[in-house]
Amino acid sequence: TPLIRFQFSTFFKMSNVDIKYNTGLAGVIAGVTRIATVGKGGMGLMYRGFSIEDLCANCIFEEVAYLLLKGHLPNEAELSTYRRKLAGFRDLLPQVRSVLESLPGDSHPMDILRAGCSVQATLRREKSPPGIKFAPEFEGEWEQEDVFTSLIASFGSMMLYHHHFHRSGERINTQGAPDDTTASHFIRLLHGGEPNPEFVRVFDELLILYAEHGFAASTFSCRVTASTLSDSYSAICSGIGTLRGPLHGGANEAAMHLIEQFSSPEDAVSGIHRLLQSKAKIMGFGHRVYKTKDPRNIIVKASSRKLSRLSTGNPKLFAISEAIEKTMWDTKSLFPNLDFYAASAYHQCGIPTSLFTPIFVIARTAGWGANIIEQRTKNKLIRPAAFYDGPSLTTFIPLENRVRSAL
Ligand code: COA
Repeated sequence: TPLIRFQFSTFFKMSNVDIKYNTGLAGVIAGVTRIATVGKGGMGLMYRGFSIEDLCANCIFEEVAYLLLKGHLPNEAELSTYRRKLAGFRDLLPQVRSVLESLPGDSHPMDILRAGCSVQATLRREKSPPGIKFAPEFEGEWEQEDVFTSLIASFGSMMLYHHHFHRSGERINTQGAPDDTTASHFIRLLHGGEPNPEFVRVFDELLILYAEHGFAASTFSCRVTASTLSDSYSAICSGIGTLRGPLHGGANEAAMHLIEQFSSPEDAVSGIHRLLQSKAKIMGFGHRVYKTKDPRNIIVKASSRKLSRLSTGNPKLFAISEAIEKTMWDTKSLFPNLDFYAASAYHQCGIPTSLFTPIFVIARTAGWGANIIEQRTKNKLIRPAAFYDGPSLTTFIPLENRVRSAL
């Protein structure tokens, strides 16, 4: 029986021993990483020692993906090799195209990516990564890093091939242009024609901001799967499934649905008060690790503001977002996380809401990949214990003696 419950910790007395656990593993150190960290006192965010501010100001996403997966920033030759590699993986395999055509048109793109990842697993089977031996029936020829690179390159093609095929019947060319980045490839495939450079810049910045975030729930899922010595595709599918929920990656879509309910900033203020009174959670606010602000928000908010001032922008949407932010801070001292202004930024780039979380997948596959590689280099099965709070040993009841339920 619980003795005391705090916000995160619960104390139990069992066989005269006090047991403490942290609800939702909050604050629990579950491993060691050299990939990303939140700075001292919950401030700032670094990927392999570089601040996200520096990375956003000076890099394209490909440099950041390389940094995460390889451990160092690429030089010019390494970057152009990596970009060529990504470009070579953008066109979809015919079997992937035919599966995408056969799936329902109203499937959520997160399901499309999970399905596409599984199909690709059968076509580009992974080779045993260094230090690990897959069972012979699972053995393939593709290096783990190529698995991650091919998924980063093809996830955008998968969701947009499915998107266009089921809307207009068009079988789009998923190869794109040879000099495309991940960002310009996506915007090109979505809108057709030459991509708008400001949309590409913001999209690229968001890929960098979404690329890695320590032991977030989806990354932890990937590590749990990898820790069983399973393959990278299975680990990435675990990540996609975990990311989808609105408490994690799904928050950017949920934030957009919230913002677009309101017709004006005044309407948003009263609407948020109503929602808070009914104890609803406001998606895109709060964070498990950050306590006063999310450093990624400052960058994405500036970009969303900039987009709102373009002829293609939506200043009212931005004003409504700011009104929600102020109301949340004044009433609950809660601050927006990356997902909140990512919603208005993506929307103003003409991106449909159902693609917001799948775009997060493209970016985070770099971080997931880095974490899967790191988990494998010093693997230990991740298998925590649970406090058992169920019935004590009970006499078995044969089938014929069991009382029928009212059903
Ligand atoms: N809206 C309203 N209240 C919120 C809130 C939000 N977005 N986030 C936290 N709170 C409140 C909780 O209701 C709780 O209040 P209480 O103590 O009066 O019950 C308190 O703040 C602690 O929240 P809790 O959910 O227990 O903290 P957590 O560390 O488990 O949760 C999140 C972190 C991110 C899951 C949480 O802030 C949340 O659900 N945010 C919305 C989803 C989201 O944006 N997710 C993306 C994260 S990057």
